Amino acid sequence: MSEPPAPPPGGMQRPIGVFDSGVGGLTVLRALRAALPAESFLYLGDTARLPYGTKSEHTVARYALQAADELVERGIKCLVVACNTASAAALPALQQRFGELPVVGVIEPGARAACAASHSGRIAVLATESTVRAGAYTRAIARLRPDAEVRAIACALFVALAEEGWTEGAVARAAAERYLAPLRMAEAAAPDTIVLGCTHFPVLQAVIAAAAGEHVRIVDSAATSAAQVRSQLAARGLLLPAGAVPAGVRFLATDAVSRFAAVGGRFLGAPIAADDVELIDL
Ligand code: DGL
Repeated sequence: MSEPPAPPPGGMQRPIGVFDSGVGGLTVLRALRAALPAESFLYLGDTARLPYGTKSEHTVARYALQAADELVERGIKCLVVACNTASAAALPALQQRFGELPVVGVIEPGARAACAASHSGRIAVLATESTVRAGAYTRAIARLRPDAEVRAIACALFVALAEEGWTEGAVARAAAERYLAPLRMAEAAAPDTIVLGCTHFPVLQAVIAAAAGEHVRIVDSAATSAAQVRSQLAARGLLLPAGAVPAGVRFLATDAVSRFAAVGGRFLGAPIAADDVELIDL
């Protein structure tokens, strides 16, 4: 018989659930903790099945539903899909499945950040193959800014580099230059904004910025996603009072717990103790 799920961190205090294929979503968790310091969080990294970005939409949607079910069973009060690939493949299905539970994806907030940053309306999206194929950013940006010109580039290797911790140095620089080569054109025609459409990519921001050139602004979805979570919780009266003592963050990983803790600290901006990471099977 399988063990009953662990109670939510903080006893009766219901955490906000956050998931990604691996450690990338920790860049979103970092922004969530900054925006919602009184809240507790339960983070799931589906490390056994990473990467999601090279898989079919059907497979990613199935994985996303399993990860979300696990978090919902553990009593979360809100679900943050901190993975662009899963948001592109499964957000409507997740929203439908959980009815009243607020479910927030990262694509619409990322598109919003890009539209706010861009003067010219020429926006480049760097994302996984699956997100690019789904066209989710192109549609989200077009809804917000119909005159925008969007160019999406699949950058699969960035996920491996980020997971490996190779975020600077010759290999990361060469990958960034190669992926961004199609954007090298006369400034009058080039995108003025790049949106990092994968939650693994913010740790590569420095090499991406160097390859893009100084006239290009780089944004991601972390802060705008956190603001959206905050407003959805507030609208439903689910926000904890500012003075509440947070029960902290607990982590679940489907494989390689000690690696998750070691690599994850760089994405979260704070160390993760291996004891705070529970190995689970989905
Ligand atoms: N972090 C995920 C995203 O935002 C994808 C990484 C992967 O390919 O698993 O798209």
